Amino acid sequence: MKIVIASDHAGFELKQAIKKNFTEGFEWLDLGTDSLDSVDYPDFGEAMAKAIKNKDAERGIIVCGTGIGISIAANRYAAVRAALCTSPEMAALAREHNDANVLALGARITGFDTAMDCVDTFMKTDFAGGRHKRRIEKLDQGL
Ligand code: RB5
Repeated sequence: MKIVIASDHAGFELKQAIKKNFTEGFEWLDLGTDSLDSVDYPDFGEAMAKAIKNKDAERGIIVCGTGIGISIAANRYAAVRAALCTSPEMAALAREHNDANVLALGARITGFDTAMDCVDTFMKTDFAGGRHKRRIEKLDQGL
């Protein structure tokens, strides 16, 4: 599975760890950032949105300190359904009910093992469809 990943400086180390941990069956497209130097999370939320819109990858992962700023940024774009998850249960439901195409993580909030469980669950869980499909379609209607 091809996955696009992006973070700001606060999420940099977790981003690197995710890529290192998930190798078998994954091809990573890394949009940065590439160091601990301070950067602005909206730039990386936008980069993620462009990649998802262009279908560069099936799914994405975004990381900042809390996961909040970068998920707000990415969700401003219609192609993105980013879900900020702090447990594997949330990651499963984000896929099953919300057909989320981007997982958002907070590196300063969620512990390493839980973050890895979130990634694993998010990648192997399918959308449940049915009544949830109607709700996803409503999300796309906009204002
Ligand atoms: C950066 O210090 C921090 O504000 C950012 O990573 C994120 O948590 C914002 O929502």
